[in-house]
Amino acid sequence: MSNTSNGLERLIISIMEIMAGLFIFIVGIALFVALFIYLKDRFQTTSTVRRNFPLIGRFRYLFEELGEFFRQYFFAMDREEMPFNRAQRSWAYRAAKGIDRTVAFGSTKSLRPEGTILFINAAFPTLEKDAVTPPPLTIGPYCKKPYEALSLFNISGMSYGALSKPAVLALSQGAKSARCWMNTGEGGLSPAHLEGGADIIFQIGTAKYGVRDKNGNLSNEKLRAVAAHPQVKMFELKLSQGAKPGKGGILPAVKVTAEIAAIRGIPAGEASISPNRHPEISTVYELLDMINHIREVTCKPVGFKAVISSLDWLETLFDEVLNRGIESAPDFITIDGADGGTGAAPMPLMDDVGLPLAESLPMLVDLLERYHLKTRTKVIASGKLITPDKVAWALTMGADFIVSARGFMFALGCIQAMQCNKNSCPTGITTHNPELQQGLVPSQKSVRVANYQSKIMYGVGLIAHSCGVSSPRKLDRKHARMVVGPGKSIPLNELYPQAKGH
Ligand SMILES: Cc1cc2nc3c(=O)[nH]c(=O)nc-3n(C[C@H](O)[C@H](O)[C@H](O)COP(=O)(O)O)c2cc1C
Repeated sequence: MSNTSNGLERLIISIMEIMAGLFIFIVGIALFVALFIYLKDRFQTTSTVRRNFPLIGRFRYLFEELGEFFRQYFFAMDREEMPFNRAQRSWAYRAAKGIDRTVAFGSTKSLRPEGTILFINAAFPTLEKDAVTPPPLTIGPYCKKPYEALSLFNISGMSYGALSKPAVLALSQGAKSARCWMNTGEGGLSPAHLEGGADIIFQIGTAKYGVRDKNGNLSNEKLRAVAAHPQVKMFELKLSQGAKPGKGGILPAVKVTAEIAAIRGIPAGEASISPNRHPEISTVYELLDMINHIREVTCKPVGFKAVISSLDWLETLFDEVLNRGIESAPDFITIDGADGGTGAAPMPLMDDVGLPLAESLPMLVDLLERYHLKTRTKVIASGKLITPDKVAWALTMGADFIVSARGFMFALGCIQAMQCNKNSCPTGITTHNPELQQGLVPSQKSVRVANYQSKIMYGVGLIAHSCGVSSPRKLDRKHARMVVGPGKSIPLNELYPQAKGH
């Protein structure tokens, strides 16, 4: 008995000795590593903080990086974050999942800041039985193959390259079920775009990816080949986008895989930077020439996408349209707000150039009305229109269609990690890293894409009915007011009196 307990004691003592030795060894190594880093920091010459505060200065960088996550999850209030706050994001997530979107107790949205839009409820709202689904709208009535667009809320341009293959697949399948269109963005047409079967708008960026010849010029042959796909319904010439007006698309080298390079018609592994503008379009006359050329070659509607901050060039354009005849007009104009998103953009352009949609949309609509072109040229609006209230606002201002990029990214599971330019997107949406992509299962996420689209339409319908109209397209400026100061709001039809309504 005592022999056994002596043996056990010796075993415990030896284990404790080993553990103590291990502990001293680990502490020794840790001290050695700390000393090494301390000396390395002290004698390096590139970072002042690390040179002045060796070792502990490094925590600054760690906390700076972690701060972004801590703020998002623990500290930021529901209505605080940018570009999209938690309340907006969670509405989009719940819509995409098709789960309860009702809220309790009271609104957390402040209704008093200047610029806040308040819809005007009717004394006698529309009954459910009188509600009408918006009918299809025809775009491009003068071209050989006009487009009957079924949905007023659609997927905005995001290139294959900026987006991963599973993301493009989920969007195209989701768009098909939602009966909405999907814009390719400027990276060309990939098999993943076609696979879902949805209507497609082919975007021609300034580098003309997917329709360029070996010198980078527009190839009629390739244009015809793209137009031959029955799914491709329209062509959008990209002049600019909100996040980077005056700068072409930027796809970092790490995202230019062999497949993406082949689709775009460029070398793999090299950053793909588009010119600041279409080299052959430097005047509104050349713009109209190009629109008419593409329309002739493809037989399909053609319009352009731009950030609009001044009207003089549009006045010249519309004067020229009237000169040449109404058929020559762009079939649509996609107007992107300065606060639009992107895969990658220089900060000075993202933060400081261009007008937000709140100001530019009424400018464009009123100008089209003034030239009697509003029914000829359809207005497609984008820029943070990711919840029903924003979509309804754009309709009241005169938009014919609304498109969203980041709303649909939320539907795909985007957590606003702000890493679209780094190939490290944790949700597999904007990365080509297969390990990160495997989390995004297209068959699952496509359902969320379709749900999100239909819940947006349902929410816009709720606002329309509350305003006393039977369908969202009947919303106009008299149905909303804007807060202009303490305790004061003004109806939008008084603030922006020019448009007649639509
Ligand atoms: C990841 C990503 C990629 C984009 N790629 C393009 C593009 O190729 N062409 C384009 O015109 N706009 C592109 N955009 C801009 C969107 O189409 C859209 O105009 C803008 O994000 C505003 O819509 P949103 O606020 O709903 O995101 C991209 C946006 C994102 C977030």
